[in-house]
Amino acid sequence: MLDRDAPTYLAAYARMLVAAAQQLPALMDAYRTGGGVGWAQYGSDMSEGQEFGNRPTFINALAEWFGSIPDVHERLSGGARMADVGSGGGWTSISLAKAYPALMVDGFDLDVSAVERARANAASEGVADRVQFHATSPADADHGDGYDLVTAFECIHDMPQPVPVLRAMREMAGSDGTVIVMDENVQPEFVAPGDEIERLMYGFSTLVCLPDGMSHEGSVGTGTVMRPSTFEGYARDAGFSGVEILPIDGGFWRFYRLS
Ligand SMILES: C[S@@+](CC[C@H](N)C(=O)[O-])C[C@H]1O[C@@H](n2cnc3c(N)ncnc32)[C@H](O)[C@@H]1O
Repeated sequence: MLDRDAPTYLAAYARMLVAAAQQLPALMDAYRTGGGVGWAQYGSDMSEGQEFGNRPTFINALAEWFGSIPDVHERLSGGARMADVGSGGGWTSISLAKAYPALMVDGFDLDVSAVERARANAASEGVADRVQFHATSPADADHGDGYDLVTAFECIHDMPQPVPVLRAMREMAGSDGTVIVMDENVQPEFVAPGDEIERLMYGFSTLVCLPDGMSHEGSVGTGTVMRPSTFEGYARDAGFSGVEILPIDGGFWRFYRLS
């Protein structure tokens, strides 16, 4: 529980819970008025808690999961360009760059403090020459000749407007690239009383993700419990014609491949 590299590491979640508890008055206001509580307002315990809560899974399991997708594995092994949207503390980009020594990665995130931490993490892991982080929306960046792989890890449900971001991801991948989204492994439909993953995700949703999403004008208000049918609707609105659920046993997470 206290070894920050172990898959069982839990201390980071205590930081997230404290950060959310400190916002309870603002959260109650948001639910009463239909407003929100922005990610930045939760402070560094939330942003760093998120980074270090997910990091053990990414450094231990992500390369194996991508290695199980044969065509993607082959393409990444041959020296590819990857864009990682909503890259947070950077551990998805860094873990894949370490697994594939010829891979070049651009990470994009709107949270400036997360981008700064991600840059420092890439430097300390010795991959800063191949992994760059940008504090900008992917929609505003110049993508050169496009990317072989475009990913979004656990962030589509956070976005107030997921469709324009998915549309930008489709353009970044062009006709030849692959788009993979990892998000919460919730049930296709709610059935009371909900399993443990549903309960945990509703906890995150009411305390963090939904109020964060709702803090932006015109939000679609997804929340953490993004069901596959909701995601498929966003993907189709963004111009994708196919959504495949990959056969990866990702625990909390489900992997979608978009075509
Ligand atoms: C829950 S965190 C996930 C971070 C990281 N992918 C991970 O799995 O640990 C969601 C991230 O998405 C970022 N984000 C939200 N909307 C975004 C957008 N439109 N473009 C880029 N990043 C965005 C947030 O700043 C935040 O860092």
